Amino acid sequence: MQIFLTGSTGFLGGELLVELAKKVEVEKIYCLVRASSNEKALERIIKVFDLHGDHFDPQKIIPVVGELTDNNLSDKLAKNKQLKDIDTIIHSAANTSFSKIYDDIVEKVNIGGTRQLLKWAQTLHNLNVFTYVGTATICGTTVKNCIITEDMSPNLAANHLVKYSYTKMKGELLLKDYLPKDKILVVRPSIIMGDSRTWVPRSNVILWALATLNQMRLFPVNAQSNIDVISIDYATQSIIELLFNKHRKYNIYHISSGKASATNPEKVTNAIKDFFPGKPDFKFVPKGFLVDMKKWSKENTEINESNHLYKYKDYLDYWTLNFGDHTKLRILLYALEPYINFIELGQIFDNTRLIEDTQIGSSIPANIYIKNSGKHLESINIFDGALDS
Ligand SMILES: NC(=O)c1ccc[n+]([C@@H]2O[C@H](COP(=O)([O-])OP(=O)(O)OC[C@H]3O[C@@H](n4cnc5c(N)ncnc54)[C@H](OP(=O)(O)O)[C@@H]3O)[C@@H](O)[C@H]2O)c1
Repeated sequence: MQIFLTGSTGFLGGELLVELAKKVEVEKIYCLVRASSNEKALERIIKVFDLHGDHFDPQKIIPVVGELTDNNLSDKLAKNKQLKDIDTIIHSAANTSFSKIYDDIVEKVNIGGTRQLLKWAQTLHNLNVFTYVGTATICGTTVKNCIITEDMSPNLAANHLVKYSYTKMKGELLLKDYLPKDKILVVRPSIIMGDSRTWVPRSNVILWALATLNQMRLFPVNAQSNIDVISIDYATQSIIELLFNKHRKYNIYHISSGKASATNPEKVTNAIKDFFPGKPDFKFVPKGFLVDMKKWSKENTEINESNHLYKYKDYLDYWTLNFGDHTKLRILLYALEPYINFIELGQIFDNTRLIEDTQIGSSIPANIYIKNSGKHLESINIFDGALDS
């Protein structure tokens, strides 16, 4: 197998790279990496293997310097002779930002970059499969508090909370314009957070939001809202099993917890509370309180009894003590808003296809495996997480 992988310096791509590198069936893995030179690209790849002391084989893993926003990427890849025998493409790279200020670049990377790869994929004589890492959240906001099947998306009429999910949907829709159905595999993870193994996760993507909740303790979200969360190791093994399964029945799969392993904010916070005995209890208030919280953090004034937040004054004092400058709190609240909106949708993604077509079995619920990251939560720089989100 000769693989071309994008996103290998990221959370999921890095894990896919390390696991695929262990497979004897895999001869070469060419990794598209953003870097100023081949040497720097190699350094970035080696770092991925070094994180958990995995063996790096320079004969097997080969970086290819490239950028998805490059309008000539497709031609450059086609001219690269070492890539001519690629039979498997795994497109995991994406701009995953939820922030409006990145909307343009998100569109350029996730739609334009996918188009560049597909144009090149069309020219490959040995291509067996183009694996597109999509997202289950392309279903939009109109489906709430229910179990969502693969067939319910893509839906062009869907209303998207953030540009990111819209661009992931558009990227997925491009596949059929360039490739026949039998060469397409779409995997749609739900929310990938943390690692179920007892080591520091490869990335704090999403986990920073839980670390923030752990710092804030008072949170404006429905504590019982269903959330479909999986660990990075489960997501990786699921994708690899599907990739190697020549008899898979579908070309679109949710990679998700499904109903059996779904969780909710209350269960997750209960799972981590014992790690931090000195902190105030977790408390959940309605989502509408977010407006008052943002106002309070902006205006920095005393609140009176008429304010919803008055009852939670102890928490506001705790925030002032914990965060000092209210600007920091504002940054957190603004960055968390899309996450709160996603949680409130109560979406669970049906995983029947995944369970039937692989040996993977159900995922461990996040409120159980997250205990392995309990201690690590405190070392996460939540402001970095908020600014990157
Ligand atoms: N994490 C989740 O919860 C989740 C859930 C559902 C679906 N997904 C999907 O899973 C995939 C991986 O997500 P992730 O969480 O691993 O994201 P991530 O950690 O942010 O990694 C993103 C990867 O994409 C690369 N990339 C970004 N912009 C690029 C560009 N212009 N050119 C080339 N490479 C670029 C990054 O490279 P640099 O290192 O150079 O920045 C990085 O390797 C994405 O397709 C995402 O939509 C993720």
